[in-house]
Amino acid sequence: MSDWTIDKMAGHCGARLTGVRLETANQSALEQMRAALFEHGVIVIPDQHLSPEAHITLAEFFGPIDVNRFFTPVATHPMIAEVRTAPEQAAVIGGTWHTDHSYDAAPAMCSILSAQTLPPFGGDTHFASMSAACAALSPGLRKMLEGVQAWHSDGSFADSKVGIDSAQDAFRDPVLHPALIKHPVTGAPCIYVNGDFTTHFEGWSVEESAPLLTYLYAFVTQPIFTARVVWEPGMVAIWDNRLVQHYATADYSGHARLMHRITVQGVPLDAA
Ligand code: SIN
Repeated sequence: MSDWTIDKMAGHCGARLTGVRLETANQSALEQMRAALFEHGVIVIPDQHLSPEAHITLAEFFGPIDVNRFFTPVATHPMIAEVRTAPEQAAVIGGTWHTDHSYDAAPAMCSILSAQTLPPFGGDTHFASMSAACAALSPGLRKMLEGVQAWHSDGSFADSKVGIDSAQDAFRDPVLHPALIKHPVTGAPCIYVNGDFTTHFEGWSVEESAPLLTYLYAFVTQPIFTARVVWEPGMVAIWDNRLVQHYATADYSGHARLMHRITVQGVPLDAA
């Protein structure tokens, strides 16, 4: 990867890789890119204009593809999900802080988003480092969370206002994950609760859980833990769903936006 340049985007997450051609990158370059992903949580690679085939090949370097059961697939390539906003649509897919697939027993390892159609302004994606947020917890709260598990559910898709296909047979039973996970590769401790899919702590009622979950959602998304991806034509972003949460900004009303997304299979998560 000697011709590549890696520039940090912010203090706690995000790196921009330039001089990279994903379609022709060799095994060693891809391995170095994966190491950058584990270090920075999210990496962006400008000016790629990936074909669907190259997008699939890139995803398969990271692992088997985990086809999202709620999103509309790309008609010609059903392994790829569409993240589409029509001009008249007010809400967008992913327009609240969340972790892709945390409702699965083995949640998706990474997501790979490839820009297809961008609005003339806005539509940025924000990322927040769950490892930096975890490191910033007070020792008391961290110790308490170390013994806690939380339930995650795909139920929020039932009230989706963003054109997600909530076919009845897509829904599964809620799953439990530790509130603080150990990153499966690096071992980094990360906070693992999110506002879209976490419902409550195991052994606590929904009402008892709500104040602490609300506190944690605000805590983990403080600007100091975040980086902002300003999309460019042909850009690709890859993020590790164990290391970061993300948020798509719905600020381009009247304009279309289309991204292609692939999620890659992950593993069950252990406690930090
Ligand atoms: C997502 O939540 O995966 C979509 C992010 C985006 O469209 O920027």
